Amino acid sequence: SEDGYDLWLRYRPLDKTARASVQAQARSIVLAGEPSPTTRAAVEELKRGLAGMLGRDPAVAARPGDGALLLATPARLPELAGATNALRGELATLGDEGYLLRQTRIAGHNVTLIAANTDIGLLYGAYAWLRDAATGAKPEAASAPKLQLRMLNHWDNLDRVVERGYSGQSIWDWWALPDIKDQRYTDYARANASLGINGTVLNNVNSKPEVLTAPFIAKAAAVADVLRPYGIKVYLSARFSTPLELHETATADPLSPEVRAWWQRKADEIYKVIPDFGGFLVKANSEGQPGPQDYHRTHADGANMLAAALAPHKGIVMWRAFVYAPGEHSASDRAKQAYDEFKPLDGSFAANVLVQVKNGAIDFQPREPFHPLFGAMPKTPLMMEFQITKEYLGFSTDMAYLGTMFEETLRSDTRTGRTVAQTLTGMAGVANIGSDRNWSGSHFDQANWYAYGRLAWNPQASARDIATEWAALTFSPDVRVTAPVVDMLMMSRETVVNYMTPLGLHHIMGTGHHYGPAPWVDNLERPDWNPVYYHRADSKGIGFDRTASGTNALEQYAPEIARQYADPHTTPEQFLLWFHHLPWDYVMPSGRTLWAELLARYDKGLADAKSLQSRWAALKPMIDPRRYREEEQRLARQVYNATLWRDACIAYFQSVSGLALPPGVQAPA
Ligand code: GCU
Repeated sequence: SEDGYDLWLRYRPLDKTARASVQAQARSIVLAGEPSPTTRAAVEELKRGLAGMLGRDPAVAARPGDGALLLATPARLPELAGATNALRGELATLGDEGYLLRQTRIAGHNVTLIAANTDIGLLYGAYAWLRDAATGAKPEAASAPKLQLRMLNHWDNLDRVVERGYSGQSIWDWWALPDIKDQRYTDYARANASLGINGTVLNNVNSKPEVLTAPFIAKAAAVADVLRPYGIKVYLSARFSTPLELHETATADPLSPEVRAWWQRKADEIYKVIPDFGGFLVKANSEGQPGPQDYHRTHADGANMLAAALAPHKGIVMWRAFVYAPGEHSASDRAKQAYDEFKPLDGSFAANVLVQVKNGAIDFQPREPFHPLFGAMPKTPLMMEFQITKEYLGFSTDMAYLGTMFEETLRSDTRTGRTVAQTLTGMAGVANIGSDRNWSGSHFDQANWYAYGRLAWNPQASARDIATEWAALTFSPDVRVTAPVVDMLMMSRETVVNYMTPLGLHHIMGTGHHYGPAPWVDNLERPDWNPVYYHRADSKGIGFDRTASGTNALEQYAPEIARQYADPHTTPEQFLLWFHHLPWDYVMPSGRTLWAELLARYDKGLADAKSLQSRWAALKPMIDPRRYREEEQRLARQVYNATLWRDACIAYFQSVSGLALPPGVQAPA
């Protein structure tokens, strides 16, 4: 079907040449040794994939013959242990989750080998082989994940409303669980395993005490049972005040023995029904959530208390650094709060605590410089938190491929000897998955789920390669389709940056919904809720001075960066107004004034949105009608949105700058 439900696992019939090659690699599917739930999933997927691509059911054999597609671990196949030194040596470097694909001779036969050290490695290898088969790549690979934790975070409430969700209700049907396990959970597991995702937090970071009561633990256990064969562990968001709010303790103070004992009992209770439960994700003392600071304790006190309860079961705590609360920081510079609170705690977290840091210091903006905590906490394992759901980039309406955005952050040099990617132990993506037929609200938004997963496996991967792979799997491997689709994907995020927040502007979206422009809003109760707080435009200039003459947020970065960005002339243009407040007539590298440059960027954003629309129109003959039409409608709406953004922002900034539009620029209608 062309409704998008199959995501990138479509397994469409191959053309003649590809077909012959795939057929030769897989005359039969052979699993060495006894099946397990995980190898069963792998073999089922290979059968499904081959049936789709070749148009007939593949043979499954007990023993390898020539042309077999052979799944084997050294424990499953003694001949593998006896294989060449090179092969065994390579396997030894691949760890518990890696795999290798090779055309080789084993047990007297020419086979296509999917080898790994564990069954999960075999499952990942099976998906990799299928991806190669569908895109026409050669099955010659060895791959192991670079990050230990590759997580999705669902911001799903128990009533199935998804916070910042633009693709329908939550896929978790809490009412029907645990007895009724929707087929969607299995398909969700397949899609995620195909990317190497190995953990999922089922519920919103703005959590509820009920999540940790017996009925919900049983529901989570039922989901965990479905996901387990696919190598995906279940985690829950825990509300810090849970025992207090359930009236089972008199306080939630993390140093209270009563509270510590409660969490230990709770952990024991969870592990009884979910023996491989992953652990807790916690949002504390942020946006009104309870936390250890309510008792004058630190984030480390809070995290370590939960960590102690989970440690005997090998569970972990992912403690979020997204802290943003009224007070001094809100009045001066919200961007500084996380660093100020967490940096001093480096080295005081328990071994099973990870600090989860958003990519930037404000909040999932179309573009932000990397968060200064990356590189600044060498004694604490860190997780990157990206947002896959596009809260600030036009929801699931506007096209914006986030692969390029994730890549930009991951490749940033912290100037502490490591890129951002190299500072990470794990990655979390706020999911864009819902109960919409196509899962993500739009077809193009599936690419963001895909890119996130591929980058979590390998944060050094290229956003363009990933886009190419996704386009081939999702639409067609025909280069007449992939080349233009990839061009659209690659230009899309910059397009959104230009028509929303060019040159380092940020957080000028309407407060609350975060969808359209509202740079004029200045009357909300907290200073940092008002867009004017972020752009600071007046008759003289625009931008947020975060240098020494302003809030000095810049000093939170490594000295080399702080020095470079202290001067607007050596600050990357894309972050100019993030760090500097500049006069309207400041001369840009283009030779234009800042005012003229700003107008030019908004114009370019709109022009590129129109270009996305016409590029898609040119693809019409190559795309199935349903998916063509569904994206055509969105791209038209995107042109409207870009027009609105440009006109509203220019009109507003002109009202404060008092400057004329340069000749040739039309006044907004
Ligand atoms: C953003 C978002 C909230 C969310 C918060 C978080 O502020 O708008 O809905 O709860 O981030 O990450 O905790």
